[in-house]
Amino acid sequence: MIEKIKELEKISRLLEPNAAARSVNRKKVVDYTEDFLENIHSLNAFDMTEDKGKGIFSSPISEEPINMDEAIKLIFENVDTHGLNPASGGHLGYIPGGGIYYSALGDYMADITNRYAGIFFASPGAVRMENLLIQWMVEMIGYDADSSGNLTSGGSMANLIAIVTARDAHKIKARNIETTVIYLGKQAHHSVEKAIRIAGLEECIKRYVPLDESYRMIPSELEKMIENDQANGLTPWLVIAAAGTTDTGAIDPLDSLGDITKRHHLWFHVDGAYGAFFALTDEGKALLKGIEKSDSVIMDPHKGLFLPYGLGVVLIKDKRHLYQAHQYIASYMQDALKNTEELSPADLSPELTKHYRSLRLWLPLKILGVAPFRACLEEKLLLAKYFYERIKHTKGFEVLLEPQLSVIVFRYIPEKGDADTFNQRIIEEIHTDGRVFFSSTTLEGKFMLRLAILSFRTHLDTIDLALAIINEKVAKILANG
Ligand SMILES: Cc1ncc(COP(=O)(O)O)c(C=O)c1O
Repeated sequence: MIEKIKELEKISRLLEPNAAARSVNRKKVVDYTEDFLENIHSLNAFDMTEDKGKGIFSSPISEEPINMDEAIKLIFENVDTHGLNPASGGHLGYIPGGGIYYSALGDYMADITNRYAGIFFASPGAVRMENLLIQWMVEMIGYDADSSGNLTSGGSMANLIAIVTARDAHKIKARNIETTVIYLGKQAHHSVEKAIRIAGLEECIKRYVPLDESYRMIPSELEKMIENDQANGLTPWLVIAAAGTTDTGAIDPLDSLGDITKRHHLWFHVDGAYGAFFALTDEGKALLKGIEKSDSVIMDPHKGLFLPYGLGVVLIKDKRHLYQAHQYIASYMQDALKNTEELSPADLSPELTKHYRSLRLWLPLKILGVAPFRACLEEKLLLAKYFYERIKHTKGFEVLLEPQLSVIVFRYIPEKGDADTFNQRIIEEIHTDGRVFFSSTTLEGKFMLRLAILSFRTHLDTIDLALAIINEKVAKILANG
């Protein structure tokens, strides 16, 4: 047996490269990422190739190792040169991604030290770091010290945690689901509907609150619906509003909705995945007035704080509800029960073992301070206004509404022919070109072009380029007939 153990040890020790091997491989990775960063401004925002990265299948997982050069070649050829490039400032579609450098260094350290971030007993420091960040965001939103939250993998998980917490706080059980009512806007992000279903609430009655001409919920309509449902013996219990919808960037009238939900004792959830971090700016703070009246809110650092993908946040005003909805005890973890000075993330979310994900947010905030994040958000609000003014005054273009945050929805109206077909051709031309990336949407049955400005690498020159490209594509389509 000893012989066998020693033989296995020899092989398993390959899992621990020595300092020389670490140095060689680290240099190759750093060289690759440095090259990417140095060239980011000339890389396309979108590229769709014939094979779409199929080559990754040509190197299956096997007993045979490959070296780092071969691995990087596979990544470069099959992943980093196809599809959307979310690290590009030219990414102006969907909700743009980020990728700030100090987060990558945070992830690197977190992966090496691998602190167990789920339980206070296992890593008091990592848990305190998460709770410090949560308290910073609690203050930003205007909640009080009784609030808590959780760092999640993204906005969809954060919405799920909030809705599960609301469900348990309002004691919504299988036996009464069919008579309970949830109110939301037609523009609610689909992750909200997904969370409702995953939380076992699909049989709740869902009412879509009418929107005004700026795509915001009309509070008086909501109140009428609630009173009507109450009069009919139903149980209204949840209102879900948006602090920045994905389609148009609309912010629901949070202040009035907060008053209505309080008056009728409903849980008030705000999806601020895209918009809530604008609270760091003076303009954003005014636009988000009333967000502090909510019972739960979500916000995505991998959107509004420009982090690489993999970080969302849920905040719950009364931390007891979050704890009661997620806390479990296992006998094999009895030692952990002795140390309860801080709330453990494992008691506040579906996760037990948890990536030490606080470091990817803490490190950039500490190394850079908050000011550059605030400035970047303010710059994005102004860039959206700039684009709006420019496109509004460009002959042939129609802009649906003034941007509330940093999303602009617009289209070209050709003198003859179908506008939907024309705008579809514009988007195809822009995708084929690839220097910038826009997405499209359909509003009131119309095919619309949509620009979302949120990348930390998007600046005035990017927006000028985007305007030039749009005009170039329109001229090309008009010339081709
Ligand atoms: C308003 C809104 N809510 C929720 C989500 C879901 O977030 P995630 O993609 O991080 O899961 C998104 C994503 O774009 C969003 O825009």
